[in-house]
Amino acid sequence: MRLIVGKDYSDMSRLAAGYVKKEILKKSNMVLGLATGSTPVGMYRELIDMNRKGGISFKDITTVNLDEYYPIESTNSQSYRYFMNDNLFDHIDIDKAKTHVLNGMAEDSEKECASYEDLISSLGGIDLQVLGIGRNGHIGFNEPGSQLYPYTHKTSLEESTINANSRFFSSLEEVPRHALTMGMKTILNARKIIVLASGKEKKDAVRRMLEEMIDTSCPATLLTLHNDVTVFATEDAVER
Ligand code: F6R
Repeated sequence: MRLIVGKDYSDMSRLAAGYVKKEILKKSNMVLGLATGSTPVGMYRELIDMNRKGGISFKDITTVNLDEYYPIESTNSQSYRYFMNDNLFDHIDIDKAKTHVLNGMAEDSEKECASYEDLISSLGGIDLQVLGIGRNGHIGFNEPGSQLYPYTHKTSLEESTINANSRFFSSLEEVPRHALTMGMKTILNARKIIVLASGKEKKDAVRRMLEEMIDTSCPATLLTLHNDVTVFATEDAVER
């Protein structure tokens, strides 16, 4: 696992965007796995800027997002589809038909998850997966527990995640209690992974991930099984 430390959030975002840019320049039709949450927003801004200035193009890129709340309408401003449109897709030259987010309103969630796995396989797998990390070490919506699902599945949100995400909703009650998420094997199958971590509240989770002891009570530790993971962190997320 490589660690790259930015002195602050904007520095970390710039470094991570630089990494993504290099990968896009190597393979203009790459399959890019994306994450939501506050952490990648700065990196998305940098990528939008690079796209505007002509440094990179997204026109041949296909994206697959990590997760989505369940149930939630894609038009709900808290849905991850809405988030992605608002923070990235609406501002770059991507073909929206090539952007994939799990359907938070699918009638049959199991079928939706199985089709998502099929979609990823039919695309030839994910070239680069972008991840954030939860304060409790969750990855996507793979929450700490004695067992972790390998593939895309429906899951219940941990109390701590509901509380952490309630800052985006008008009340705690409005936070959906379930989500659809790629599983740890779906994520580990990506050819390259980057993890973005910012702020001191991520320190414990980042430390456990970097210590490289595998423990399902901190799903991020499973990333040590992958041989091409780069962590972009702010100084306060790694200082001892
Ligand atoms: C987002 C996701 C989550 C976040 C994590 C960190 O698609 O799957 O695992 O990456 O909760 O969120 P922030 O960046 O808001 O601290």
